[in-house]
Amino acid sequence: MGMFHLLLPILLFHGLHRVASGAAADDDRFVFSGFAGANLTLDGTATVTTDGLLQLTNGTVQLKGHAFFPAPFRLRGSRGGSGVRSFSASFAFGILTTYPNLSCHGIAFVVAPSSNFSGALAAQYMGLANIDNNGNASNRIFAAELDTMQNIEFDDIDNNHVGINIDGLRSVRSHTAGYYDDDDGENGTFHGMSLISGDVMRAWVDYDGEAARIDVTIAPLERPRPARPLVSATYNLSDVLTEPAYIGFSSATGPIDSRHYILGWSFGVDAPAPAIDITKLPKLPRLGPKPRSRVPEIVVPIAIAAFLLALGVAAALVVRKRLRYTELREDWETEFGPHRFSYKDLFHATDGFDDKRLLGAGGFGSVYKGMLRTSKLEVAVKRVSHESRQGIKEFVAEVASIGHIRHRNLVRLLGYCRRKGELLLVYDYMPNGSLDKYLHCYDGGDKHEPILNWAHRFQIIKGVASGLLYLHDKWDKVVIHRDVKASNILLDKEMNGRLGDFGLSRLYDHGTDPQTTHMVGTMGYMAPELVRTGKASPLTDVFAFGTFLLEVTCGQRPIREDDAQGDSILLVDWVLEHWHGGTLLETMDPTLQNDYNVDEACLVLKLGLLCSHPHANARPRMQQVMEYLDGDTPVPELASTHLSFGVLALMKNNGFDPHVLAYPPSSVLSIGTISDLSGGR
Ligand SMILES: Nc1ncnc2c1ncn2[C@@H]1O[C@H](COP(=O)(O)OP(=O)(O)OP(=O)(O)O)[C@@H](O)[C@H]1O
Ligand SMILES: *[C@@H]1O[C@H](CO)[C@@H](O)[C@H](O)[C@H]1NC(C)=O
Ligand SMILES: *[C@@H]1O[C@H](CO)[C@@H](O)[C@H](O)[C@H]1NC(C)=O
Ligand SMILES: *[C@@H]1O[C@H](CO)[C@@H](O)[C@H](O)[C@H]1NC(C)=O
Ligand SMILES: *[C@@H]1O[C@H](CO)[C@@H](O)[C@H](O)[C@H]1NC(C)=O
Ligand SMILES: *[C@@H]1O[C@H](CO)[C@@H](O)[C@H](O)[C@H]1NC(C)=O
Ligand SMILES: *[C@@H]1O[C@H](CO)[C@@H](O)[C@H](O)[C@H]1NC(C)=O
Ligand SMILES: *[C@@H]1O[C@H](CO)[C@@H](O)[C@H](O)[C@H]1NC(C)=O
Repeated sequence: MGMFHLLLPILLFHGLHRVASGAAADDDRFVFSGFAGANLTLDGTATVTTDGLLQLTNGTVQLKGHAFFPAPFRLRGSRGGSGVRSFSASFAFGILTTYPNLSCHGIAFVVAPSSNFSGALAAQYMGLANIDNNGNASNRIFAAELDTMQNIEFDDIDNNHVGINIDGLRSVRSHTAGYYDDDDGENGTFHGMSLISGDVMRAWVDYDGEAARIDVTIAPLERPRPARPLVSATYNLSDVLTEPAYIGFSSATGPIDSRHYILGWSFGVDAPAPAIDITKLPKLPRLGPKPRSRVPEIVVPIAIAAFLLALGVAAALVVRKRLRYTELREDWETEFGPHRFSYKDLFHATDGFDDKRLLGAGGFGSVYKGMLRTSKLEVAVKRVSHESRQGIKEFVAEVASIGHIRHRNLVRLLGYCRRKGELLLVYDYMPNGSLDKYLHCYDGGDKHEPILNWAHRFQIIKGVASGLLYLHDKWDKVVIHRDVKASNILLDKEMNGRLGDFGLSRLYDHGTDPQTTHMVGTMGYMAPELVRTGKASPLTDVFAFGTFLLEVTCGQRPIREDDAQGDSILLVDWVLEHWHGGTLLETMDPTLQNDYNVDEACLVLKLGLLCSHPHANARPRMQQVMEYLDGDTPVPELASTHLSFGVLALMKNNGFDPHVLAYPPSSVLSIGTISDLSGGR
């Protein structure tokens, strides 16, 4: 965020100079050349920045802001009459937007019976009116709008115009933004201006009470006031304005995060608005690229030469450094900006992806622990290699949307970064690592984690169920996890189970032609129909969840060595055999040493079998799973015909090694090769 702090705040303090007029009643003029210390009535997003800018909108979308002079003005009754007197306002303004050619919705100078616009709407209503009262003569509002969006409903002429409005958003008169140059003959030639250029501009709004004429004029800051107004209308404001009347500004954002600023403002009744001292105006912050330099022409070539020289000297160093941090960035990514991390930050966060920082490696890539420098947040950075462009866009879109998900049982995905052939995903760091380490601590691992007791396990099971339910049913759209398994359950510092890694397998799962669809999953967790068709669904997640339940309860991997024949069988089949034999509790993890709640354990084992049912339709949905786990509904009795599906045997017969549990991208299963399994039973 390139905020400018070039000038000391003290230099920007110009305060309020309320000029007493000799002829008219007191307080009928004021001038602000900058707003530091100004007494204004502000609401909504409006604030006065430390630099003395009046910021009407702050870059947050769909909000409005108002700034009014705190005391109302008496506009009526000069020279014995009761009509509205002449008045005149001038102000300097600037509009900043994150997109080069899109901004919304603009600024309006307003004269109104009240400074309370709480009932008005943002976006195209510009904080002036709402659907019900727009255009209603009882509003008694006069406004000069600087409108940066074309709203057909209000007959806007274009997305860059100045309009004179009475009681609503439909203009009495309007004209494309610009000014008539006095140097070009009597009436001048029209020069267009872009309200959203990011340049500071000036505007003048004048009402001639005698002629009932309204003039609005704008010009670039450095130009004198043009003689010919941009828009004029004859309208008797005596029929509109109340006594007294508040004067100020209204502004609103729509779907684009624009910022609307007033830099200086003056007003006078029965007199021209006092001159604003433009040398004292605060500086507008810059978003995006810097404007063209206005340095005199002689200096420019010298500056360029010096710059080139400096560039030449620095080039070698920079190029070296650049190569190290180069990223891949494409146009479509701009909308995902907030979720993008710079490679440099991630590089530094992980000490250059140091091996000492390695947390582990999975099928998709290595995971490093890191600490973000600016926020001091501990993160886990996953490096995934991807060669093809295909699927990346969908994936990043999913990352961006998933990035909004907040749930206590989901590992938060903070953002991503792309380099050539590489994708980096940034997650919240989970200090207690993945669940599988606790379950299988005796088979081969050198680290011995403490054994999880049953209460903990049950707690984790419930947590994971609620995380998965959230993805399936509670989030805006259905998110299929596609890779539920013990190694993707991470434990936070309170030992809550959190699902991680969601969406990732999506990266390798985007083909539409079933012959080319590559399926990713982990053996033992893949539902039969997923193996057959390659199509993931919430019910294939439920299948994997079932296997996970058994894994946690039995403390065994989803594919187990069967001692008897030295052969491998699915954990589901093994538990099922015990269930048929009435010895279900013999499957419980021996390391629990019979210290568990029998009812809960039976419930989880049965639920595991039910969720891993070979027929998708027989599996419960996560909503029901949750009810079973909470004990709200009893688990239905399993049918005695409950059969498992010998996926494993089929796989083995087709040359797959069941000992390779996860299929990394380099060896993704091709449905083409295994489609001949579909008939098997
Ligand atoms: N957010 C995290 N916080 C802490 N450790 C993590 C985090 N994410 C992953 N890890 C660690 O990194 C290891 C590797 O994770 P990764 O997800 O790459 O592998 P996996 O889940 O075993 O396999 P797959 O890629 O097939 O899902 C995990 O076992 C875990 O210990
Ligand atoms: C803008 O103002 C609104 C309301 O005052 C506030 O909720 C929001 O956080 C602000 N946004 C920024 C970027 O400061
Ligand atoms: C701001 O102006 C209003 C109206 O003139 C006045 O009542 C109020 O006291 C002023 N506040 C400050 C802080 O000067
Ligand atoms: C903005 O500019 C881009 C490219 O410069 C163009 O594709 C897009 O249509 C423009 N949008 C509008 C609203 O003018
Ligand atoms: C503004 O008007 C609304 C009703 O339109 C009222 O509820 C609210 O209290 C008013 N706010 C102020 C500050 O007077
Ligand atoms: C205008 O507003 C007044 C007061 O709120 C209301 O009584 C009247 O019905 C409105 N007129 C129209 C045309 O909506
Ligand atoms: C200037 O404008 C006035 C009023 O619109 C018109 O009468 C006059 O002819 C114009 N003069 C020129 C030179 O165009
Ligand atoms: C405007 O209206 C007021 C009262 O309605 C009237 O006194 C005045 O003469 C009108 N002015 C013009 C220029 O018509």
